[in-house]
Amino acid sequence: MRTVYLNGEFLPLSEAKLPIMDRGTTFGDGVYEVSSVLDGRLVDNDAHLARLFRSLGEIRMGCPVAVEAIPPLQHELIRRNDLIEGVVYIQVTRGTSERDFPFPAHTPPNMFMFTQVKTIIDSPLAKSGAKVISTDDLRWARRDIKSTALLAQVLAKQAAHEAGAYEALMVGPDGTVTEGSSSSAFILTGDRRIITRKADTSILPGITRKAVMALAAEQDLVVVERDYTLDEAKGAAEMFLTSASSFVMPVISLDGQTIGDGTPGPMTRRMRDLYIAFARASAS
Ligand code: PDD
Repeated sequence: MRTVYLNGEFLPLSEAKLPIMDRGTTFGDGVYEVSSVLDGRLVDNDAHLARLFRSLGEIRMGCPVAVEAIPPLQHELIRRNDLIEGVVYIQVTRGTSERDFPFPAHTPPNMFMFTQVKTIIDSPLAKSGAKVISTDDLRWARRDIKSTALLAQVLAKQAAHEAGAYEALMVGPDGTVTEGSSSSAFILTGDRRIITRKADTSILPGITRKAVMALAAEQDLVVVERDYTLDEAKGAAEMFLTSASSFVMPVISLDGQTIGDGTPGPMTRRMRDLYIAFARASAS
């Protein structure tokens, strides 16, 4: 039986009810986080919780639980669900109130968490490499906030799904790649530079992205934060995506065009191995 957390209680999934007037439902007025679980422990969780509190601050919302009180709740949820490998999802919304756009007064936020089982390390796709497509980036201007309003990402992922691809790379009106619909995007240039877009308001500042950049720098690899076009990505020596739910995912084709030699490249495999070692060593 699956156990979830809702507003201070651990409950069977079927008994956890959120009112339809929850502002997450009516307005997408909430934020979320996804931390990965490896060997029953949380990976880079402090960074995920720091981003959750940053997202909350940016939309002027409080959290019903202090930041230091969240890991014990996550661990309890992992324990109750016997989760070994997967993710813990956390969502905080601006609470339950009559549908009206301005913030409701004296309304406590709603907070819930659940776990999902996922094979991250032995993922077949991580071995074969993933196909991706490109799509217009239809999102709002504050992509640095991990908002639950994900309609553009849902449409992008569905387009990828219908094309037989794993992920959709989102492209801005200027032709530059922003990121994947639920992942950060990296390319490797012919001169062995690892390129990823600068983390301003145009993308989500990926926690995995940041850790991968730090691991690359430790290995004296050159990492450059700059814009790159879809055409540059199609001509890249290698390409990979990062996220809490996939770690480092090799990309082998983009819009049907082969990337590199059509197999996960050596730099990508190295970054995946480095990240897995970091995750195992630092999980708590
Ligand atoms: N998505 N960019 C976007 C738009 C994302 O939604 C995500 C994560 C990332 C990667 O961030 P991180 O490395 O912190 O997971 C980048 C999560 C996994 C999701 O929505 O399920």
